[in-house]
Amino acid sequence: TVRDVVAIDGPGGVGKSTVAAALADRLGVAHVDTGAYYRAATLACLRAGVPLGEGPACARVVEQAHIDRRGGRTFLDGADVEHAIRGPEVTEHVSQVAGHPQVRRLLVPRQRAATAHGGVVEGRDAGTAVVPDAPAKVWLSADPRERAARRARQLGITDPAEIDALTADLARRDTADARQMERAHDAIVVDTSERTVTQVVEAIVERLPTGP
Ligand code: C5P
Repeated sequence: TVRDVVAIDGPGGVGKSTVAAALADRLGVAHVDTGAYYRAATLACLRAGVPLGEGPACARVVEQAHIDRRGGRTFLDGADVEHAIRGPEVTEHVSQVAGHPQVRRLLVPRQRAATAHGGVVEGRDAGTAVVPDAPAKVWLSADPRERAARRARQLGITDPAEIDALTADLARRDTADARQMERAHDAIVVDTSERTVTQVVEAIVERLPTGP
């Protein structure tokens, strides 16, 4: 039901995925990673060789693409693409593909459908576009250095020059995603910079609406 839906939004590297997965587990509902849909859509467009700057061409590919999430993995036309969609090529182009309204119009309903039995929906516009009627909305923030450090740990990167490159890439995507990124007026803001995952999850659970 709509009562079991939580929207978690915020920029890259704030710990959204980790927090959303832990919270979904705790609540016993699905974890809907909306970014994974845009990443899989981008992979489909790259493979089809369509010009990524053209919305209608991308949308034609995405319309035919079967994108599915199961057990924390992403499937494109039945094949597990979880590894491929996290790679540099998709990461470089995903903001461009996700920026096409024609693509968003196709993917938002699929993301919403994934919450039919409740869910923690994670993304940039979960609280405003995917599940605007969610009773609980969270906006995660963190300072830029901490975001880059986290992304580095996630990818197993330790070289300072590569961490600098990650910091620059996060800043680039913040700018590229600004149009899509929207904080719902009724979202609670949780800064994750100096909190552990458990502490962030607790902070959210404490503020979830209770009772009918
Ligand atoms: O969250 P993640 O880094 O996997 O998202 C990848 C990209 O997908 C983002 O940089 C953004 O361009 C796009 N995205 C979006 N709307 C969402 C989720 C992700 O435009 N709800």
